[in-house]
Amino acid sequence: MGLTITEKCIKKSIVAGDWQQRGSRIGLRAHQTLGYDVNAVMTFLALDQLGIDRVKTEVSVQYIDHNMLQADYKNADDHLFLEQMCAKYGVICARPGSGICHQLHLEYFGVPGKTLIGGDSHTPAQGGLGMLGIGVGGFDAALAMAGHPVYLAMPQVVNVHLSGQLPPLVSAKNVILAVLQKIGVKGAVGKVLEYTGPGVATLSVTERSTITNMSTETGATSAIFPSDDTTKAWLAAHDRQADWIALAADDDARYDARLDIALDQLEPLIALPHSPGQVVPVAEVAGIKLDQVMLGSCTNTALPDVLQMAAMFKNQRVASHVDAALYPSTRTVIKAALKAGAFGALVDAGVRIFEPSCGGCNGCGFAPQSHGVSLRTTPRNFAGRSGTADDQVYLSAPEVAVASAITGVITDPRTLAWEPAEYSVPTHFERPANLFIVPEPVTTVTYGPNLLPLPQFGQHAAKLGGEVLLKLPDNVTTDDICPAGALYLPIRSNIPAISKHSFQTIDPTFYQRARDAAGGVLVAGNNYGQGSSREQAAIIPRYLRIAVIIAKGFARLHLANLVNWGVVPLIFADANDYAKIHAGDQLQVALAQFEAEPTVTVTNLTQNTTFTAKTPLGKADRHTVMVGGKLNAIKESEAQTCD
Ligand code: F3S
Repeated sequence: MGLTITEKCIKKSIVAGDWQQRGSRIGLRAHQTLGYDVNAVMTFLALDQLGIDRVKTEVSVQYIDHNMLQADYKNADDHLFLEQMCAKYGVICARPGSGICHQLHLEYFGVPGKTLIGGDSHTPAQGGLGMLGIGVGGFDAALAMAGHPVYLAMPQVVNVHLSGQLPPLVSAKNVILAVLQKIGVKGAVGKVLEYTGPGVATLSVTERSTITNMSTETGATSAIFPSDDTTKAWLAAHDRQADWIALAADDDARYDARLDIALDQLEPLIALPHSPGQVVPVAEVAGIKLDQVMLGSCTNTALPDVLQMAAMFKNQRVASHVDAALYPSTRTVIKAALKAGAFGALVDAGVRIFEPSCGGCNGCGFAPQSHGVSLRTTPRNFAGRSGTADDQVYLSAPEVAVASAITGVITDPRTLAWEPAEYSVPTHFERPANLFIVPEPVTTVTYGPNLLPLPQFGQHAAKLGGEVLLKLPDNVTTDDICPAGALYLPIRSNIPAISKHSFQTIDPTFYQRARDAAGGVLVAGNNYGQGSSREQAAIIPRYLRIAVIIAKGFARLHLANLVNWGVVPLIFADANDYAKIHAGDQLQVALAQFEAEPTVTVTNLTQNTTFTAKTPLGKADRHTVMVGGKLNAIKESEAQTCD
């Protein structure tokens, strides 16, 4: 039996479990890891607890890209701490402003056929060059850096078969928007989207990376393209020919499902507020007046994107009522775009130029006005993520964004008469000097006042429960639980401070009620915890003594974070029981047999009823949860080894 690309990559990094058993627990050892500033503070605090001298991977890279605002000491302290921790543990550190992690990693580190464990949900971006990228929370990133396996369910592999070629002004973002339109934001949970077919050869590496990056929005474990001659040329253009291998699925590879996308049939698509899964043709919403356009993020400001934007803006102007900005993805892109003469067209058009960073994507630098309508090339548009609570954010490809910035209303770029300028993508990229800090051992690490010790939690009692503090709908995001934005990112590693803002957009009374109740239970719908890798969304409930969350379903990455921090995740055995619970009910969960038996009885003391819930966790993870989280489980197993 032939193998898929996914199986070939997993076979290279598996250290526990059986890759041939879909859904079974497998342990992968990372060849590489990546981390980003806001989450990595806790990753390094966790690394301190794991007792290693230097990281055990082939390459580990720390990026400082998500929050570049230095409005006071907090962020600057965090950046200094990260640089020193990188030196202490042998991690390569990208200087602040060098670039957004996924694009910079693609340029300098991604290797076809290897496995990258990244502390960011869009780690599948490396799938654009045939690397298996899997996003995890900060604690799992620390484990991977320390040489421990990262455990996950062996995914199903879906063949996304691409045929034809994209029409003019319909670029790669529309491919993943089309996938989202077909399968929605939880359509690929537990799956890898593997892109194959003759359409693959028509796409560049950065186009492929846009597609695999945003495959995260389908709930996928990862996404991957073959490594072919296009990949070889990309690596050669960055002086990394030696990293190339040919990688493709075998002719008789077995896929679990197939999805067909005819590239030549695609039209410009757009995701409506407030979900990347609410996708419609641009024509359906054309004419909506815009306040803001953001060009940028890890998906859409590689060099070909920037050159295309410049070509469209040449001799054009941003509409007078629109605020438009560009976040180039890396300093490599800036250097090449300057050399091509492309920045002049953007500057003359009236586009604001920010430094390479996530910035506006996560509410750190380009928030729209109150009720502002913003069109963005970013991967996500969860409510309030821009930094403005009542934002109206649409997502599109760069061509739609530029056309709309010029007209001032949402516009299908194919309806504009414009004379494109010509900028060509170079075959060799000049590397800017001083992108990375080469690690050297240090003895001193500065723990600024914003840095608190890693939270520690104890093991659970045989009965848990309390008041239902929130009854939540489907698709609650990590942004809902632990907000993004310039006010909140600098306090993400300060759990007592950030917890005061948890669920604030859903129920501003939540924090105080949780404190007053000294614990309780959360009840949620499907896909609870979708979105980012931030483990604070799991730590906060635990810190507030909420030890149990009962949902119709959990997002993969958030579920792993709940395990790591000792929160008991339960799923309704009968989804109809969700409707019978009311906020304020008192629940009690019997956990005496939890490690042996995944099914538990929940008593609703207020209604004098019982129902059954089950956990999606295997035995080892159930034990981890009961002892209070991964750190406790590791210490326990190390103590047993010493005995
Ligand atoms: Fe950064 Fe936004 Fe991508 S926060 S990693 S640009 S999704």
